[in-house]
Amino acid sequence: MCGIVAYVGPKDAAPILLEGLQRLEYRGYDSAGVVVANKGLKMRKVKGRVADLAAAVPARFKGATGIGHTRWATHGVPSDVNAHPHLSNDERVAVVHNGIIENADELRAKLEADGATFLSETDTEVLAHLISRTVKETDSLQEAVRLALKRVVGTYGIAVIDSERPGEVVVARNGSPIVLGIGEKEMFAASDVAALVRYTRQVVHLEDGELAVLRADGFNTFASDARETAKEPLTVDWETAHYDTGGYEHYLLKEISEQPDTVARTLRGRLDDRFHVAHLGGLNMDARETRSFRRVKIIGCGSAYYSGQIGAQLIEELARIPADAEPASEFRYRNPVVEPDTLYVAISQSGETYDTLAAVQELKRKGGRVLGIVNTVGSAIARECDGGVYLHAGPEVSVASTKAFTSTAVAFALLALHLGRVRDLSPADGRRVCEGLRRLPGQIKEILALEPQIKELAYKYAESQSIMFVGRVRGYPVAREGAQKLKEISYVHAEAYPASELKHGPLALIGPEMPTVAIVPDDELLDKNLTTLGEIRARGGRVLMVGHRVADSKLADDCLVVPRNEVELDPILLGIPLQIFAYHAAVALGRDVDKPRNLAKSVTVE
Ligand code: F6R
Repeated sequence: MCGIVAYVGPKDAAPILLEGLQRLEYRGYDSAGVVVANKGLKMRKVKGRVADLAAAVPARFKGATGIGHTRWATHGVPSDVNAHPHLSNDERVAVVHNGIIENADELRAKLEADGATFLSETDTEVLAHLISRTVKETDSLQEAVRLALKRVVGTYGIAVIDSERPGEVVVARNGSPIVLGIGEKEMFAASDVAALVRYTRQVVHLEDGELAVLRADGFNTFASDARETAKEPLTVDWETAHYDTGGYEHYLLKEISEQPDTVARTLRGRLDDRFHVAHLGGLNMDARETRSFRRVKIIGCGSAYYSGQIGAQLIEELARIPADAEPASEFRYRNPVVEPDTLYVAISQSGETYDTLAAVQELKRKGGRVLGIVNTVGSAIARECDGGVYLHAGPEVSVASTKAFTSTAVAFALLALHLGRVRDLSPADGRRVCEGLRRLPGQIKEILALEPQIKELAYKYAESQSIMFVGRVRGYPVAREGAQKLKEISYVHAEAYPASELKHGPLALIGPEMPTVAIVPDDELLDKNLTTLGEIRARGGRVLMVGHRVADSKLADDCLVVPRNEVELDPILLGIPLQIFAYHAAVALGRDVDKPRNLAKSVTVE
């Protein structure tokens, strides 16, 4: 997804902008550009990598105010011309933009009729022309940006500079994140804190509709009616080391390997051995309110949604409250019935996924009580929710989610324990779950030690055209996430089905050319699952069984045995070997593991 970096201060902006853009590379992009102000605007932009841009920036590219961008094409092909920044015809104003301007065609026609010449196919260029026209009238960049944005329908995070005001950057947000970074006599802005942590930990998130003016000595923020707003800086604890591969070949493998630690962090300080309860201070609900909910509805997108399915089962099992999960992207469009006795839970690693944010906003508009399970502190979804649980998993850089997925499932186990213990979950069961949760980090280490075996299996199965993933009840969301991981990073087609549904249709696909990965925990459904394996084998299908025991060779060609925990918590562990499997399958096929094609790390557009 597109990335924005902005700088104003005493130093040369270009190296800071380029370094910031490099930090945003993980989000996915196809072109990049920078512009600095110094007696006019100096701009370079290229289709390709930030390294290509850096090579195109000459040594004499001086200027202490600048903005930079990585673009992920929406309007117009990836090209030098369509790359941001975009300039006004008089080259006075430069703009970078994330998001989509829906009325760009209409604005473009009006601006062309008014004499503007468009160089690119982008929607963003209308902003440069609109702002340059207004800045002449208002003699204030901030006011010009505010008035121009009033004419725009759509989403944006933007940064703007004016050659006649070097020393000033204006940024604004509506649906696409902008975070300010406060330095020593210098100010930064970016679409993601990743670009800032090398320089500062003091950040300020803009709200939708807000605009900020940055100068070396500070910043001011304004609402869309030009009223000044007050903002409290937040300290982020993410470090630059989190954004390095730390000696691993890929971020994905690093993040998979971090999980003993990230799960421990999600649990830290939250388990109470006296009453066998979970302490979740951020929920902002007393016991009476916690007891009052009769239903739990979980929303999230992609892998977040699958972790929500694990969460729904944990809540039903431990708290005996009816719970289900639904893709936030679907939920928001179907005019959902919002009930006062339903607890809504929104899940997001980035905290910025547009569909999830829009679903939360719709719920809030209708008076719904919404908790967030979010990784990114201070992100838009975290701010929008009434309370919630932070994952504390550290930044997730690889496009495919792994450690955030696992930590979300752990956070749901804590929430389920909490909801259960104010209802009918006995102290003995509470204790069993607490002890199970404490065992997770050590057991994840044991699973990571299986990597050589999993790698061998991945190389063996990676040649398949298509792989079926099956699981029953607790195993089904695990199968869905396993298939999702495999397809998104290896591009091997993978389908997930409830094992119980195979004979209602998909069994027709099974044959020697279509192997099955079967999630088979040692739970009350073991026999049924083994019967399914027999049915697959009887049709010539190969089976890789992932579970707690080695199965008879008549039932499975290969078995991956992982440590068992409490049955309710087993799905948390069973997902991890599938992450390692997908990783090695992708490596075996020579894929760009951390930046799979067509995908972006955080989807801030509809
Ligand atoms: C898959 C993946 C995506 C995200 C989804 C939601 O590996 O990463 O499916 O889970 O785009 O993102 P967040 O959690 O940031 O809202």
